[in-house]
Amino acid sequence: MAVRLAPSLLAADQSNLAAAIDALAVAGVDLLHLDVMDGHYVPNLTFGPKMAVDLMAHVRRQGYAMELDVHLMVTDPDRFVGAFAEAGPAFITVHAEAPYHPHRTLQLIRNEGARPGLSLNPGTALNALEELATEIDLVLLMSVNPGFYGQAFIPGSLDKIARCRALLDAKGSGAMIQVDGGLTASNLGAAVEAGTHIAVVGNAAFDRAQGRSVAENIQILREAAQAVAQLDTNLNTGGR
Ligand code: DX5
Ligand code: ZN
Repeated sequence: MAVRLAPSLLAADQSNLAAAIDALAVAGVDLLHLDVMDGHYVPNLTFGPKMAVDLMAHVRRQGYAMELDVHLMVTDPDRFVGAFAEAGPAFITVHAEAPYHPHRTLQLIRNEGARPGLSLNPGTALNALEELATEIDLVLLMSVNPGFYGQAFIPGSLDKIARCRALLDAKGSGAMIQVDGGLTASNLGAAVEAGTHIAVVGNAAFDRAQGRSVAENIQILREAAQAVAQLDTNLNTGGR
């Protein structure tokens, strides 16, 4: 299965996000993950709607084929969906634990022209999806507790990814699974094998500690994901 990488701008140098986007364009990235935090739902503050609009204006001016993926970690998403929709995102995802009326919020997102996603924290059971599975285009499974980039992947998330796919299939939902938090070249293959369609990568994309460029980091992640795709092909055909 091919995985789409969605680098999180939270992990980039916040003083030069346009340069971060340029580096991602060089790396062939086509989806930008924007972590919106309100200081209430999570203990951190990040991007407002004007940032989303201006960043996408940069993307369009430069002619990059990049879509925006907005991850709303806010207590009252209904107040912000319309403003973030101004940026023309492909996806707007809200937390199952946050909205007062998640069914209404997901409809609001679709009415604003974006594809609705629903996110579950590591401590939230999959049954939070049951009544909403056919309303969503995406499930975002958090593999760390939300709020910060650079945290360690929670191992139990792998099993949750597989169980999530089974639940979605049982409900007749074709929703994609996005995994967010602590993904690296070491665990990405396992996450893809478990059913990840979109992999959010923060630290693993922007970390310069090894002296690597963003493009080199992205290439290493792609190879980690493709190694599994290759293995699957061999298994399917009985080849070696
Ligand atoms: C955490 C955010 C993530 C985070 C990912 O609350 O939702 O998107 O920035 O960063 P890494 O990959 O470093 O965990
Ligand atoms: Zn995120």
